[in-house]
Amino acid sequence: MTGTEHFDQAAATWDLADRRVLLARAVSEAIANRVPLSQELTVLDFGCGTGLVTLELAPMVRSITGADTSPGMLKTLAEKAKTQGTPVHLIPLDATETGKLGGPYDLIVSSMTLHHVADVAALFNQFTQHLRPGGQVALADLDEEDGTFHDASMTIHHRGFSRDQIQTWLAEAGFREINLETATITQKDGKGYPVFLATARWH
Ligand SMILES: C[S@@+](CC[C@H](N)C(=O)[O-])C[C@H]1O[C@@H](n2cnc3c(N)ncnc32)[C@H](O)[C@@H]1O
Repeated sequence: MTGTEHFDQAAATWDLADRRVLLARAVSEAIANRVPLSQELTVLDFGCGTGLVTLELAPMVRSITGADTSPGMLKTLAEKAKTQGTPVHLIPLDATETGKLGGPYDLIVSSMTLHHVADVAALFNQFTQHLRPGGQVALADLDEEDGTFHDASMTIHHRGFSRDQIQTWLAEAGFREINLETATITQKDGKGYPVFLATARWH
């Protein structure tokens, strides 16, 4: 099963796992604590999934766009946004294509998606093409883990990341004011997995 098929199948029941809802809420709070959100900001949520973070942030910003490679995830997000009466723009992505992210945005956020992306350094470079000058990123993902976070059936590209590696990739892409902190520790099957939040500003 491809990653996209996995997420398409998981979409309808994704939000039923309390740990995912709690994680998205904690990440959203960490973002709001680190980045001054306002009704001036246009925001992209890269790898938005069912919109757990997208819909938390939506009331705090002018507009928000969710981009994802899984049509099933985007469909679930569209239904939730309609039910809640929250306007969300959606961008279906093909993992092999670049340049479709739209914008320019004031802020690009992402939660728990980077470890599914093969070339994260290239992705950070891509983000710079879709940010306004002075725009920011706020990116949350797993610290390095031992491979137990995902089922063996799930193909992932990274077992979390070292914070030094994320810092290096952001700096090489031209970001400044780079900060890494712990957003939360997510619990799965009785084990805690630290999740970092990386924030940085584009020129
Ligand atoms: C673990 S889920 C996280 C979803 C959401 N951000 C959340 O916090 O609930 C990862 C998401 O990334 C998406 N994804 C995987 N690879 C991607 C890629 N290369 N580009 C964009 N989205 C991707 C998946 O379809 C899935 O919705």
